[in-house]
Amino acid sequence: MNFTDELVQWYLQNKRDLPWRNTTDAYVIWLSEIILQQTRVEQGLPYFYRFVERYPNVSSFAAAGEDEVLKLWQGLGYYSRGRNMLKTAKLVQEQYHGKFPQRYDDLIKLKGIGEYTAAAISSFSANEAKAVVDGNVYRVLARYFGIDEPINSTGGKKTFQELANNLINKKTPGLHNQAMMEFGAMLCKPKNPACGICPVHMNCFAFINNATSILPIKLKTVKVRERFFNYFLVTDGDSVLMNKRGDKDIWANLYDLPMVETASLLPLPELMDNPTVKEIFGNDIRISVDNLPVQKHILTHQRLYIRLIKIQSKPIKLDSNWFYTTVENLRNLAFPKPIVILIKNIFNL
Ligand code: ADE
Repeated sequence: MNFTDELVQWYLQNKRDLPWRNTTDAYVIWLSEIILQQTRVEQGLPYFYRFVERYPNVSSFAAAGEDEVLKLWQGLGYYSRGRNMLKTAKLVQEQYHGKFPQRYDDLIKLKGIGEYTAAAISSFSANEAKAVVDGNVYRVLARYFGIDEPINSTGGKKTFQELANNLINKKTPGLHNQAMMEFGAMLCKPKNPACGICPVHMNCFAFINNATSILPIKLKTVKVRERFFNYFLVTDGDSVLMNKRGDKDIWANLYDLPMVETASLLPLPELMDNPTVKEIFGNDIRISVDNLPVQKHILTHQRLYIRLIKIQSKPIKLDSNWFYTTVENLRNLAFPKPIVILIKNIFNL
């Protein structure tokens, strides 16, 4: 058997039974693929079930409000995925009369759908012969064929895509694609790949040359930016001052608390001396205890340091995105993960 036939054989015997593998409904496959971008299967599964239940078809999704979608998305990160899904659902409802497209050339035009996702949906739903190249596929190909071009360089991406296109089985492209990805996820893992039980290890460049730990090669790119978020809790126990975030920064359109960002982690007296903080709370700020630990939250290109200060003074100036709401209503708002933690700590919600 050749390389790809071996992988398909392996897949048929070892695959996980995942819900999106038992359907050819392009809408359901789209849901699963967007949820699974940058997300592990175990983490994505409960979200997948929630979305399918709440929005069983693209028409019901298209009718949703953004706040509702973001609330369902809460905790999954990369929230632009959720916002783009809603835009795409609305467009599909209008332009395709609620029938989710299956052809690669239609899919690639939709917001939030790139080459990988278009190939996945078209091959899984309609057996179009488009090869998927995700992180798993890069790893399998780089190791087996001994490709040392960086997977995040322009040339590297082209090399891997061309190789994947040449390898694809034109009769069963959906099965082929699933097999490549599952093999990468379950056996040819980033760390400690299971070469001992691998059906193709005898012909694998990385196995033969003891190079699984260095392939694939990835160029180090952007620096991580450190940010310091000082949140202020203003509450009388019944109502609480909240902020709706804008659409330019991280966590777009989600909710958090009033916040002042600083360039470093400031001691409390210095923070209270900050001009923006003084503008909000005046010169005579009354603080209740500030004893919650600073939370560190890691994003792809940013490291956030999040602290909460409980304030007893009423703010004298409210930002236009701030509003008072009841503690009870906090259940209905979508928060980024660290804010969920803050709110749990304060209100036991
Ligand atoms: N990750 C992304 N897409 C996937 C799929 N279809 N099956 C399993 N894991 C995945």
